[in-house]
Amino acid sequence: MKCYHVRQAGGALSRSREDVYLFPSEDGAMQMVRLYLLLSVAGALAAQHTYSPGDVEEGGKLFRANCVLCHGPEGDLVPGVDLAHGKFRRASSEEGLIRIIQNGIPGTAMPPNNIQDYQAIIILAYLRSVASAGHSVSGDGDAARGKALFEGKGNCLTCHRVNGNGSRVGPDLSEIGLLRRTSELEQSLLDPDAEVLPQNRYYRVVTRTGETITGRLLNADTFTVQILDAKEHLVSLERSNLREAGFIDKSPMPSYRDKLSSQELADMLAYLSSLKGL
Ligand code: HEC
Ligand code: HEC
Repeated sequence: MKCYHVRQAGGALSRSREDVYLFPSEDGAMQMVRLYLLLSVAGALAAQHTYSPGDVEEGGKLFRANCVLCHGPEGDLVPGVDLAHGKFRRASSEEGLIRIIQNGIPGTAMPPNNIQDYQAIIILAYLRSVASAGHSVSGDGDAARGKALFEGKGNCLTCHRVNGNGSRVGPDLSEIGLLRRTSELEQSLLDPDAEVLPQNRYYRVVTRTGETITGRLLNADTFTVQILDAKEHLVSLERSNLREAGFIDKSPMPSYRDKLSSQELADMLAYLSSLKGL
């Protein structure tokens, strides 16, 4: 098979590295054009750092939904890789990074990700913004007081579970300290609607008789849906009996903005940050 050898040279394409791309000859020319366009956009974006706050926020959402489980909230949990501070083992350019993020690294835990170039770019932009904000500090909170609050007056266990104790209505928080930065935890408490991760969204159905049931979607197939309702009951419904069914974007969690003093908030954050699994 005849191949085109495309050598990056000059301009946005080779800001920091030379690359050789191989394409089958058939529609190679088209691919070249597409790749060139993608990379120039990527290069231009990266070079000028023209991300809107909205882009960076979107990058944060993508990171939390796809990467945080392995890379940690500050992007530095994989040994030898510090995403926020540009410390990499293999990649030597932004373009290279984008390819790694999309294709994964065969033979390692790094999986391929079905994301666009610009999404990879805003994930990296988000991580740089995390780095320039510095490591999140939990202030002067007291984790033991936070725990008492969590289990007592805060009523958090009515929806959440920590190390086997509590409810399954909301997400399990046993490892939340490994997954979220303090500022993100604070936002969850004060403004729960600001960001609801796709996997944490609630599902709502309305039956033909007008009954509404909301809860975590456990399973859905062609004929039925199963929901864990607010009382932790498993409800199984025939789709043919439903008038409406779908995810809701709002959080069922109340805001604690006016319910916790600033000291209580600091204590709660210290406790949540300390939750790192057993
Ligand atoms: C299942 C765990 C896992 C997930 C999910 C994951 N990664 Fe990785 N990632 C790894 C591991 C492990 C490595 C180190 C691989 C190696 O070099 O041995 C890695 C390496 C990397 C590298 C390093 C490249 C280099 O040159 O060192 C980048 C960049 C990266 N990941 C970005 C991401 C992004 C962005 C996401 C989300 C879209 C993501 N990863 C999701 C486990 C993961
Ligand atoms: C009425 C049920 C309910 C109560 C009470 C409740 N939560 Fe939540 N919480 C949820 C649900 C559902 C979510 C997932 C949707 C979302 O992200 O807002 C959530 C999300 C969270 C998250 C973010 C989880 C993540 O993966 O990012 C944190 C942190 C949290 N809650 C802490 C608390 C704390 C601390 C309390 C007590 C002060 C509390 N919650 C009380 C239902 C509740």
